[in-house]
Amino acid sequence: MPNSLVHLIQTDQLHKDLINILAEKADELRELNESRDGRLQLKSMLSDKRAILFFEQPSTRTFFSFANACHILGMSVTDCRDNTASSQAKGESIEDTIHTFANYVDLCVIRHSQNEAINKALHVVEAFDLSTRLVNAGNGDRDHPTQALLDVYTLIRHYKGDLKGKTVTVVGDLARGRAAKAFIKILMQYEPEVSLQLVSTSAYRLDPKFRREFVPESTSCHETSDFESALQSADVLYMTRMQNEWGGDSQAAFQLMNRHLATMKKDASILHPLPRREEILPDVDHDERALYWEQEKNGLWIRCALLLKIFGVEIN
Ligand code: CP
Repeated sequence: MPNSLVHLIQTDQLHKDLINILAEKADELRELNESRDGRLQLKSMLSDKRAILFFEQPSTRTFFSFANACHILGMSVTDCRDNTASSQAKGESIEDTIHTFANYVDLCVIRHSQNEAINKALHVVEAFDLSTRLVNAGNGDRDHPTQALLDVYTLIRHYKGDLKGKTVTVVGDLARGRAAKAFIKILMQYEPEVSLQLVSTSAYRLDPKFRREFVPESTSCHETSDFESALQSADVLYMTRMQNEWGGDSQAAFQLMNRHLATMKKDASILHPLPRREEILPDVDHDERALYWEQEKNGLWIRCALLLKIFGVEIN
C-alpha cells in the first residue's frame, strides 16, 4: 500500500502503515509547537501554499481545526461557508465551483451534504489535470475520513499503539452517522485485533449492506440495543448523536450518565466525535475515561500531519 497521499477522498485510503506515519508526525508537530523556534519552523512548512475551506454544511471543529492547522503551517486560508454567497446559489454545479477554486488555491477542503460531491470534485481535478489537492471533511451520511483518522489517533496515543483484544462499542445513530461509519471502517485496519459492538435501536442500526461491504465476516461484531450491558464489556465506548439533519428522530435513545460510570471498566475510554447533545451528560466530562475533549484537540495535530503528507513535506 502506498504511503504517499495526493488527495484524501475516503477512509479506505487510510491503511495502517499510513495511519502510524501520520500519528508519529502529529506527535512530532505538537512537540515542535512547544517552543517559539518550533512554532516558527512550523509556520514555514507550507507558507507557499493557499487553501480554501468549502463547507456547505455547518461545522465547528472540522472547520476550525483545518483553518488552524493551515495557520500553524503558514498557509493562507479563505473560506466559503455561506451557500447564498457563492455562485452555487445561481445554480453553478459542484464541478464548476471546484474547478474555479482549483484555479486559485493549492488545497480545497470540502464538506458537503451530497454523498457524491467529493467524487465530483475529484473527477474534475483529474479530468483537467489540476494540481489542487482535495480533502474530504465529511460527505453526506457516508464518510468522514479525517474524523476517523483523529479517532484512531486518539486510541493510538491512549493505548500506545496496542489495540489488541479491545472491544470497541459504537453507540447511537449508526444508520446515518458518517463519523460512526468512518470509525467502523478505519477500525477494520485493526481487525482481528479489535471486536465490535454496535448499539442502536432497530430504526437506526447500521445498514446491513454497509456491514457486508466494510466489516469482514471474520470480524467479531455483535449488534444489540442493550446499552447498559454493552457498557460493561466496552474497552472503547464511542457515543454519537442522532443525525436528525437528515430527518427522523432527534432524541437519543441512549444516554451516558454519571451513574453508568461505576459499571464500566476502570481502564475504558469514552470517545465522541462531537458535537454532542444529550447522549453524554456534562458531568461525565470530569471522569478520567472521558477522552472526547482530548480527541477533539488531537484533530488539530493529525490534520497538520495530513496536510504535510499531502504536500510531501517532511519535518527536518
Ligand atoms: N465531528 C465533526 O465533524 O464536528 P463538526 O461538525 O463540528 O465539524
